[in-house]
Amino acid sequence: MTGAPASDSSGSGIESVMHEDRVFDPPASVSDSAHVPSLEAYRSLHERSLQDPEGFWSDVAMELSWFQPWSKVLEWDAPDAKWFVGATTNVSYNCLDRQVEAGYGDETAIIWEGEPLEPGSGPEVRSLSYRELMDETCKLANALKSLGVGKGDVVTIYMPMVPEAAVAMLACARIGAPHSVIFGGFSAQAIADRVHDASSKVIITADGGWRRGGIVPLKANVDEACQQADCVEHVVVLRRCENEVSWTDDRDHWWHDIVDSASPDCPAEPMGSEDLLFVLYTSGSTGKPKGILHTTGGYMVHAYLTSKMTFDLHPGRDQVMWCTADIGWVTGHSYVVYGVLPNRVPTLMYEGAPNWPDPSRFWQMVERHKVTQFYTAPTAIRAFMRWGDEHVTGHDLSSLQILGTVGEPINPEAWMWYHRVVGGERCPIVDTWWQTETGGHMITPLPGATPTKPGSCTLPFFGVDAAIVDEKGVEQPADTGGLLAIRKPWPSMLRGILGDRERFIETYWSDIKTEDGTIYYKAGDGARRDADGYFWVMGRIDDVLNVSGHRLGTAEVESALVSHADVVEAAVVGMPHEIKGEGIAAFITLGPGASPGQDLAGLLREHVAKEIGAIAKPDQIRFADALPKTRSGKIMRRLLRDVAAGKEKTEQDVTTLEDFAVLAKLRESEEA
Ligand code: PRX
Repeated sequence: MTGAPASDSSGSGIESVMHEDRVFDPPASVSDSAHVPSLEAYRSLHERSLQDPEGFWSDVAMELSWFQPWSKVLEWDAPDAKWFVGATTNVSYNCLDRQVEAGYGDETAIIWEGEPLEPGSGPEVRSLSYRELMDETCKLANALKSLGVGKGDVVTIYMPMVPEAAVAMLACARIGAPHSVIFGGFSAQAIADRVHDASSKVIITADGGWRRGGIVPLKANVDEACQQADCVEHVVVLRRCENEVSWTDDRDHWWHDIVDSASPDCPAEPMGSEDLLFVLYTSGSTGKPKGILHTTGGYMVHAYLTSKMTFDLHPGRDQVMWCTADIGWVTGHSYVVYGVLPNRVPTLMYEGAPNWPDPSRFWQMVERHKVTQFYTAPTAIRAFMRWGDEHVTGHDLSSLQILGTVGEPINPEAWMWYHRVVGGERCPIVDTWWQTETGGHMITPLPGATPTKPGSCTLPFFGVDAAIVDEKGVEQPADTGGLLAIRKPWPSMLRGILGDRERFIETYWSDIKTEDGTIYYKAGDGARRDADGYFWVMGRIDDVLNVSGHRLGTAEVESALVSHADVVEAAVVGMPHEIKGEGIAAFITLGPGASPGQDLAGLLREHVAKEIGAIAKPDQIRFADALPKTRSGKIMRRLLRDVAAGKEKTEQDVTTLEDFAVLAKLRESEEA
């Protein structure tokens, strides 16, 4: 990054060698008892949801509990939406009290499996009923209140995947303190940036978290972050790993000291529908990650309905929902916690890694807990394919009913493997397209209704008016690529970017405008629709990478690299990667005295991990004398992508001799 304007688009991803034209009908075993039992039923309900969105969403919202009803379902003044105007509710109430008050307090709310400490050792398993979860939530909520946390105060959560992470989210929601969950793999610097941006005064963390037999030093990272973020007044620390941690007396509090003695009685605060529920940071094409804002009523209703419909959840049917995402991502927010609990189906959480202590961990868990709904990312599916079918087939997976994927396009090979080896050719696959900004599923099959095509996320969810358009909002003909846009408001849409109205408008609401001045939501993905109206998402059209289903801005990785003393200029592009979908390639020019090579590449990788987190480490680093640029000084990323992908020839326009020379040198440059 050199201050030059953002360059042309990205959108690589792994290249498919398989062609799969078959259409997979929903199995009768699922359709017969599904909420939406046929394509016709889906179509008529979808049509109703678009014709009469207020009537549709009002009916859905009435399935949940509200303290005060709404006076109006929707107020839309693009790009500002207000849903369930004038109503009050509480998401924590809908997850917990609602079940307890209806007499289901003893049913299981959360099943949790800790990381087995060594091969062959039995895993640590805990299960919490709705009543237990509510008691823990109330106690923490009271403890937070005693630290001075009130309505509107942002609380940062930086936790391992333990039930207390969900407790922390629910406790914040209960007292109206918006949370900002930070993925446990992010660095101290990333915490400091987010805490500072949200002016967060309280951080909830743990001494550590287990991962692959080692301890992730969460508390130490928080300590380091606090040196920069001086807005932090209190740090609540859960004891998980019993590791030594340093302590700041007037700031740090052990969870057990302040929570165990707190009262389990904490009535849920009535929250306005449009009160902030959470901030969640995600990467964009420029600058630092942005804090996406989600509010209470609309998010709750959308997360509830998508969980119910996409995974066909039915309370009382012995289902167990396992979404493998960490709560640090939006998928964990919506499909580990907020969408599942109001549906009264147990949610499974796990700590650690899918292949620790061995590659059969997931499938042992499916068997042990009789998982019925399983939701993961294509990158995990590809890794399992590589590790070998025997780890999967050696387990009884007959409990599985529905399989889901999210986060990136799924290649047909991975889809077919998932269908055959994991699903035993009997489980529908729901390939769900959505984003941090959308809060919940937007385009997805419904398991009892939608015939699926490997690689397509199929048809829009209820209330979602998705289209492939050009910049004037004109819908593109079948099989023609274009911008993926959403033309009407939906309940869980982002309400803004924390502290940056201009960026909100510019990023999502400026590029697609119809002749009559209507603006559409721009998702930032390129896609096409086929003749059956099915959506095929190709990938990002901006400078956002999708690495293992996680978003990273090229600009973020570049600024991490140029913050190293030896680096003068850095350009980061995506490259095809067999497991991650997209890998990270960095082209770097060095200052005088620095010597290119493996050693420096290693140092730079560590530097990026320290600045952002291990997920941002470049897979490929190439040192160059110069980077190819246009005459106006823009880095020619398309060329770099071709080099990173190992293409011998480029189809890009290379016009100047200087470009040729630079390009030839880059090709010769060694990958470090
Ligand atoms: O490019 C799309 C891709 O992931 C992006 C959203 O990333 P994030 O906000 O981190 O949320 C991920 C989990 C919801 C999208 O812009 N993406 C997500 N799901 C799919 C997908 N691409 C293709 N198919 C999907 N099912």
